Parts: sequence; C-alpha cells; structure tokens
Amino acid sequence: MIRYGLILIFCAVLLFPVLVLKGCNKQSSLSSEEYQSERTGFILPQKHTTNLTREKQRGQGLYEYYCALCHGKTGEADGFNAFNMSTQPAKHTDAILMGTLSDTQIQLIIREGGSALGRSPQMPPWGGVLTDQEISDLTDYIRTLAKPGGN
Ligand code: HEC
Repeated sequence: MIRYGLILIFCAVLLFPVLVLKGCNKQSSLSSEEYQSERTGFILPQKHTTNLTREKQRGQGLYEYYCALCHGKTGEADGFNAFNMSTQPAKHTDAILMGTLSDTQIQLIIREGGSALGRSPQMPPWGGVLTDQEISDLTDYIRTLAKPGGN
C-alpha cells in the first residue's frame, strides 16, 4: 500500500512542473493585447500610436471625413472622386506646392473654396460646415502630410 502511495506522489511531483510549464507556454503564445483581454475581459488603451498633437488628431479625423474623398486619405490626391474631376485635387503631400501656401491662404481656400484664390471651384467652400477652430486644426494637420524632400 505504502509503495503505491509513494509511486503516486512521485508521479504527481513529476507531472506538476510539466503542467505548470504548459500553462506558461500558453500564456506566452498570446499577444499582450489578447492576454490582457483574456484576463480582464476588455482591452486597455494601448500606448499612443501617433505623434500628432490633439489639434492635428482632430484635423486628421476631419480630413478623413470631409476631404479624403477627393484629396485621398493620405493627401496623395487619390480619393475615389478624383478620377472624374476636370481639375485634379491638390496633392497635399507635395512639399513644393504646399510650401507656396501660407497658413492664411490654406485657411482661406478651405473656408471659401477654390474660387476665393482664383482656383477651381471644384474645391468646395467649407465655411458653412466647419468652425474656424476646425479649419485651423485641418490646416495644422495638412502641414504634416508633405515631408520635405519627399515627392
Ligand atoms: C470635391 C472634391 C474636393 C473635396 C471634397 C475637397 N477638396 Fe480641396 N481641392 C479640390 C480641388 C479640385 C483642388 C485644386 C483646385 C485648383 O488647383 O484649382 C483643391 C485644392 C485644395 C487646397 C489648395 C492647395 C493648392 O495649393 O492647390 C487645399 C488647402 C484644400 N483643397 C483643402 C481641402 C480640405 C481641407 C478639404 C476638406 C475639408 C478639401 N480640400 C476637400 C477638391 C476637393
């Protein structure tokens, strides 16, 4: 009897590390997000993924909502509307083009449309839709699209 007992304890001692190691393996195969959501039931906010200031982040949201359909999500002028326009939307990634415009001019063209700067009226006026703060946030954001030396 005692012998069986000893064998059982021996097996349990042997198995224990195996089971524990298996458990550890399972945990480490999960990404930190999965691990977090498995433990807490929800995903905690991750470390910030953008270097943009709050103003620029607001501008980015507005840009993707109102402007991307012509100017493209990243300012490459490749929005889905662009192909059938007689005047191509401005490429906001074009550092040379954007360098010729002051913030005031950018704000004016956004507020009053292309015709305000003698440009194509296919750039619509947004003054009735966007507040001055939103136009200023958009201008800040547009400034981040063109990288000097790029394009
Ligand atoms: C219906 C399509 C369309 C939408 C939507 C649109 N644009 Fe434009 N945009 C244009 C076109 C076309 C031009 C070029 C006008 C020209 O060169 O005569 C332009 C030009 C511009 C320019 C001037 C750049 C330059 O040097 O020519 C700025 C700044 C601009 N858009 C910002 C915006 C912003 C910000 C939004 C969103 C709030 C927006 N646009 C939405 C079509 C559009």
